[in-house]
Amino acid sequence: MAHQSIKIEPVAGALGAEVSGVDLTKPFDAQTVSEISGALFQHLVIFLRDQNITSEQYLGFARNFGEILPYPLVQGLDDFPDIVPVLKLPHETTNFGGLWHADTTYLNEPPMGTMLLARELPPRGGDTIWANMYLAYNTLSDGMKHMLDPLIAVFSSEKAGVTATREDRRNDAPKDDSGLQTTAEHPVVRTHPVTGKKVLFVNFGHTVRFRGMTEAESAPLLDHLFRHQTRPEFTCQLRWRPGTIAFWDNRATQHNPINDYHGYKRLMHRITLAGEKPY
Ligand code: OGA
Ligand code: MN
Repeated sequence: MAHQSIKIEPVAGALGAEVSGVDLTKPFDAQTVSEISGALFQHLVIFLRDQNITSEQYLGFARNFGEILPYPLVQGLDDFPDIVPVLKLPHETTNFGGLWHADTTYLNEPPMGTMLLARELPPRGGDTIWANMYLAYNTLSDGMKHMLDPLIAVFSSEKAGVTATREDRRNDAPKDDSGLQTTAEHPVVRTHPVTGKKVLFVNFGHTVRFRGMTEAESAPLLDHLFRHQTRPEFTCQLRWRPGTIAFWDNRATQHNPINDYHGYKRLMHRITLAGEKPY
């Protein structure tokens, strides 16, 4: 197996880096994989450009970083059920996941990471933004950190905003979700299992309240945290090109795809990697 020496260039102050020097159509060795995962844990979201790879090559790349977790609510591709199409059609106006969120945090074991590979893009627009949840935690006051540290939050797949963003895809590729876990409880502040650093883990898409409190009681503080954690200086933005792969650490980031390309098609291929129960 060939060693491909990677180059890492940060794209913003808060997070995000382009990783170049890798061609996923060619063999790469364990050292290359470990450099890529090092870049992921350091920069939280990494971008690999011009990877015009097959679905097999894409799955083969993803499996180096963990076990694939099928997305619970939408069917995968016919031939590759572990790859989920994230699609917006020209006549549609909502985009999948079109609000700030971390992926499927209503599961007991939310994913460690997600990859998207851009297959078809609008001529302009359709960028995605990520935010750094280490920074979101670190920039809280000591008093707020102290108050949040012991709290548990309740997460749900049923928040109205988020269900609307997956309706179109549920309609054309429904998946039997009768056995799906739709709520989970996780620490508001979790410890990242690889870096050991603290992360502000609540997110607008899926967090409904603090455990032991009502939604109404939780709302003022949650709203404050949702606003705080997506401040522009905690974010980076990706201009996709066909063949761009974004790979994010779902434990330490949130993301939000910008819905500014009505009338055009956008198709991404998504692979999710299994994680663990947050602590
Ligand atoms: C997702 C998602 C963002 C995008 O697939 O989880 O949020 O840019 N997609 O399409
Ligand atoms: Mn998402």
